[in-house]
Amino acid sequence: MAEVKNVPLHVAIIMDGNGRWAKKRFLPRTAGHAAGSKIVENICELAFNKGVKYLTVYAFSTENWKRPDSEVKTIMNLLREYLKDCIKKSTKNNMRIRVIGERSRLDEDIQNQIKELEEASKNNTGLNFTVALNYGGRDDILRAARKAAHDYKDGKIDIDAFEEKDFAAYLDTKDIPDPDLLIRTSGEFRISNYMMWQLAYSEIYVTDVLWPDFNEAELDKALAYFAARDRRFGGIKTDNK
Ligand code: IPE
Ligand code: IPE
Ligand code: MG
Repeated sequence: MAEVKNVPLHVAIIMDGNGRWAKKRFLPRTAGHAAGSKIVENICELAFNKGVKYLTVYAFSTENWKRPDSEVKTIMNLLREYLKDCIKKSTKNNMRIRVIGERSRLDEDIQNQIKELEEASKNNTGLNFTVALNYGGRDDILRAARKAAHDYKDGKIDIDAFEEKDFAAYLDTKDIPDPDLLIRTSGEFRISNYMMWQLAYSEIYVTDVLWPDFNEAELDKALAYFAARDRRFGGIKTDNK
């Protein structure tokens, strides 16, 4: 494939379709989650080799607790395994790992794993890989508003000088740029409470491919779609001035 110019700095992915992937194979939904978690590492590597510097994946939403206990348990166990592997991998491939989302509802051992992983990889200079875990866009904004309100009470905020960038500094994503491209697998045209604030001007690419089937060819299609977009951010095309 020809080299793609105009690579998105930050790609966000809604990894959807694990359940449908399993159903098509007459397997339990949990088999879909296992297959889906296996391909994440490969997609990270491919994306980084193609010039993507930030990759953020939606692993578990604040609404996913509504699923049957057994499914939630399986997802959390896969996560434990994944985080354990991640420690080794991030050392090998220099990946910096962050987790966004509300942590206190996660089991304590998972919270500890996250802390360890973030600390161990904080000086790595490769891909900035972020996992959205018990993440909700509204929850992110609400928690940010609460923190800001506390700071206001403590006299740390001048309300009249408080700007978008000041609010964004309270969000879980404070250290990472807004996504340039959002990819959603499995054909649904919705945000499902992903980064509501941060996705304001992201290009959106939806594919029917189910997450466990997502591969290099599919990633190339998404990147080619992005490269052809004319991003105006509310302005006009620069050559139309
Ligand atoms: C995405 O796959 C993974 C999570 C939400 C944890 P789904 O489990 O939503 O798969 P479908 O949408 O039912 O096919
Ligand atoms: C979004 O997928 C959340 C994740 C991929 C983690 P869902 O499958 O939960 O979203 P809906 O229910 O189709 O909107
Ligand atoms: Mg789904």
